[in-house]
Amino acid sequence: MRDSAFIPLEFERLDPAKQLVRSKAFYEMLRTRRTVRDFSPDPVSLELIETAIRTASNAPSGANRQPWHFVVVSDLEVKRKIREAAEAEEREFYGHRAPEEWLEALQPLGTDWHKPFLEIAPWLIVVFREDYGLVASGEKEKNYYVMESVGIACGFLLAALHAAGLATLTHTPSPMGFLAQILNRPKNEKPYLLIPVGFPASGAQVPNITKKSLSNVMTVIS
Ligand SMILES: Cc1cc2nc3c(=O)[nH]c(=O)nc-3n(C[C@H](O)[C@H](O)[C@H](O)COP(=O)(O)O)c2cc1C
Repeated sequence: MRDSAFIPLEFERLDPAKQLVRSKAFYEMLRTRRTVRDFSPDPVSLELIETAIRTASNAPSGANRQPWHFVVVSDLEVKRKIREAAEAEEREFYGHRAPEEWLEALQPLGTDWHKPFLEIAPWLIVVFREDYGLVASGEKEKNYYVMESVGIACGFLLAALHAAGLATLTHTPSPMGFLAQILNRPKNEKPYLLIPVGFPASGAQVPNITKKSLSNVMTVIS
């Protein structure tokens, strides 16, 4: 006997042809996802953002702790504060902190300390990881596999936003402590990713980079 409640699984068993069609359609949809660094100020409805966060919240997580929190910002003043703080950190990073090897790796992307997209994109989604939970009594509750869980949720989030016809930038201004301060987050939360979301600026360009081939990323043992 299992010692907790169980319910029937919702699972649609597809015929093999339909499985392949769906799988390929999903690939074709996500194949065109790119990191965008040049945003249009065109507005995006909160409902689209909420729906994508619902998708992200459906991700698996260690012991189902769901150790994430998403703060979504469209307020101009708050976006301005985030831009100023991020640019201060990034100016240090690009000017002093980053080792030469890291700067060389970033060179093809053409990034520098300027982060105008933090004010221009209509929404910033700031993802926080919860290193531990805080239960009603104020006591700490241990979370498990926090980094892996939040990473998976962010993957769901980026895919959901792309499916909704939105552009994203996976941004990690280094270090990100200022986000917890500006957004007044509790002490069990640490910034994980900063994701500007919106439409690309007209004529936006992206680095001409390639992805590894399937044979490079997959080994079959059958
Ligand atoms: C964890 C992580 C952190 C990243 N941080 C930054 C960042 O701070 N700034 C930036 O411009 N791009 C950042 N990126 C985006 C990567 O540069 C980008 O995903 C990579 O160059 C591949 O390009 P693509 O996303 O268009 O396929 C980050 C991506 C990941 C996964």
